[in-house]
Amino acid sequence: MKKKIGFFVGSLRKGSYSKTVAVALSSLFPEEYEPIFIDLHELTMYNQDLDDDGTPPASWTKFREEVKQLAGLVFVTPEYNRSVPAVLKNALDVGSRPYGQNVWDSKPGLVVSVSPGALSGFGANHHLRQSLVFLNVPTLQQPEAYIGNVVNLINDDGTIAENTMGFFKTIIDAYLVFLEKNS
Ligand code: FNR
Repeated sequence: MKKKIGFFVGSLRKGSYSKTVAVALSSLFPEEYEPIFIDLHELTMYNQDLDDDGTPPASWTKFREEVKQLAGLVFVTPEYNRSVPAVLKNALDVGSRPYGQNVWDSKPGLVVSVSPGALSGFGANHHLRQSLVFLNVPTLQQPEAYIGNVVNLINDDGTIAENTMGFFKTIIDAYLVFLEKNS
């Protein structure tokens, strides 16, 4: 059976650069892996009362089940106000509860930050890593993936420039070694 790799994109925007980068990264996985884009559009905002009362929204239950099936986690995110966009932080929070039932636990992760700016989403990248430490997600250290000035890396037809795809392949190759070591 193929190993499922979950892609979590921190932007809901139709024309999201992060999504474009995520799609390009997903195309580099060999056949024995199945990249799955986890939809965060409908994920209800976390409210602990609903877990405490045993009435979690259907969107949380579905999401938690989806994450449980995954062998690996790829986070591709823009930076909002020097941090992680709420949509992605909410996903982390929903998956982390009820207490003791953290669905992220031990799944090898990859963090990629994307920005039209030169700082390359560094703040989001590292705030995300901070949460992943607590969630017990072992995360690829090197190479770090800061995709800055992203507009210059996307061709007119929406594909990614060839030399950048070369860098993306370096990232994915390293992640695959890391994933297998930590599985
Ligand atoms: C941004 N943007 C942004 N960019 C950045 O490099 N650092 C930042 O701190 C922020 N802050 C920020 C806050 C909010 C609320 C928005 C809407 C945007 C700009 C952001 O990088 C840009 O809109 C990207 O295009 C968003 O990523 P997607 O949607 O293209 O994936």
